[in-house]
Amino acid sequence: MVTDLALDINEKIYLDLLKDCLSAAIYEESSWRVVETARQAPKGAFRWTPLVAIRRFVISQLRKRRLLLVRMRPFDASARAAGKDWPCFGYTMVGRARLDNLEWCIRDVLERNVAGDLIETGVWRGGSAIFMRAMLRIYGVTDRVVWAADSFEGMPVPEGESDGWDMSGIEQLQVSIDEVRRNFARFGLLDDQVKFLKGWFKDTLPMAPIKRLAILRMDGDLYNSTMDALTNLYDRLSPGGYVIVDDYKGWPGCRRAVHDFLDSRRLSPEIREIDDDSVYWRVGDRRLKADDVAVVAS
Ligand SMILES: C[S@@+](CC[C@H](N)C(=O)[O-])C[C@H]1O[C@@H](n2cnc3c(N)ncnc32)[C@H](O)[C@@H]1O
Repeated sequence: MVTDLALDINEKIYLDLLKDCLSAAIYEESSWRVVETARQAPKGAFRWTPLVAIRRFVISQLRKRRLLLVRMRPFDASARAAGKDWPCFGYTMVGRARLDNLEWCIRDVLERNVAGDLIETGVWRGGSAIFMRAMLRIYGVTDRVVWAADSFEGMPVPEGESDGWDMSGIEQLQVSIDEVRRNFARFGLLDDQVKFLKGWFKDTLPMAPIKRLAILRMDGDLYNSTMDALTNLYDRLSPGGYVIVDDYKGWPGCRRAVHDFLDSRRLSPEIREIDDDSVYWRVGDRRLKADDVAVVAS
């Protein structure tokens, strides 16, 4: 249990700098874009023309020589702070407002001693989950774990149009588990308080050996990715814990999944805005019975 949640000046400076590094807000080059071939871009983004074929040939020849073609776009600090772009490098797409929200939610559950681990479903390069682990470190918390759930091979193919846009071919979203582990290690935050759940959520989450959660941060974009996280993890959330929905406003399927789920449970939490894309809510003080929770292993 954490008794003193006040941070000294060095700890505050560390968290601030960590947010800027993870979100690549201190590097103007983070707004540069790698020029992709038609094969690597979202479906329908290109019509097949001779120019597209030449472009694909040139890019693939460069790749073979380990060269990338990069479009140098001007840095837009407000877009990065709002998490509106995908940083070329950097460890998270989310911007400052969402990292501030994560910090606030974690501090709040520690302050109120809400039991359970922290999970992000959909971690990409790991940045938000790395920030979760840093928060546990800074408060000396040793009895909670950060779970990082992802395919670690990119987005699934959507199950129909209503699931969401097809991003399954986008290379930038395909980040291997080894790369994410390395990213944790770069910040000195890879240890046995970080656990990885590799695979599609529908396969990994039902059997995940998680007893209790204090924070569920969902960032899987699609209807089914959001629904899989909610149906498999919501009952493991402690009363007073938080659900954070990264894609609530930007992805209509995600928002629909949230409301389909809440309606099916007759729940109507107060959904609070984080920024233009994301929301969160506090889990009601519903008492969980021991056998409400699917405990598979400890
Ligand atoms: C938008 S990115 C997550 C961004 C990340 N939270 C951050 O801080 O930058 C979406 C991630 O969700 C993963 N994903 C989406 N649906 C999934 C599913 N059904 N099963 C496993 N991984 C999934 C993708 O592999 C991708 O890494």
